Amino acid sequence: MARPASTSTSETFIHRFEPATGPGRAPLLLLHGTGGDETDLLPLGRTVAPGAALLSPRGRTLEAGMPRFFRRLAEGVFDEDDLRRRTHELADFVEEARVQYGLPAPIALGFSNGANIAAAMLLLRPEVLSGAVLLRAMTPFLKPPAAALAARPVLIVSGSLDPIVPEENAARLAATLAGAGATVEHRTLPTGHGLSQADLRLVRDWLAERPVPAE
Ligand code: MLT
Repeated sequence: MARPASTSTSETFIHRFEPATGPGRAPLLLLHGTGGDETDLLPLGRTVAPGAALLSPRGRTLEAGMPRFFRRLAEGVFDEDDLRRRTHELADFVEEARVQYGLPAPIALGFSNGANIAAAMLLLRPEVLSGAVLLRAMTPFLKPPAAALAARPVLIVSGSLDPIVPEENAARLAATLAGAGATVEHRTLPTGHGLSQADLRLVRDWLAERPVPAE
């Protein structure tokens, strides 16, 4: 059955919100990749976390007309000042949305550019998220800021054939987050930058073990 969904342009981010249809699931903050929008990851969210509330903003930066969550100078080379500013904007939006929709802290589920800003949010505003699933993520900062992640659960899923994210870079992200105290599981699949059925199974199984966090 289709659930009631809302699309809003009245807040700082155009976004979709789908309320929970069952108990016991942490809400998901869905963060799309370059060229995506607020509708992109809704089917993925419904598949990997049936019944969970879904909050899905559209990135506010445009690159040749394609939405992103922050500016880059070249592929894999980020405008870190813009990334910092956009990360705080997105974190503020999530905090407002939690009040508006009555949500506990969400688990971020980000793909590519969306995974990269989720990683930045873990490092800059760890209180906003209860955990994160980072699909094809890179290290967002050349010199990551010190963060206290207090055992936040993080799943990183990389592709060994990914032409955009070098294996060493994803391994560095895992080490940075683990060094900041997160409980990190880093899995590498024999695939490229795009998502595969194996990603979906991994994410679904990992999320099934993550109930709504205590407030
Ligand atoms: C990024 O810019 O965040 C990464 O290069 C991934 C991408 O969006 O292509």
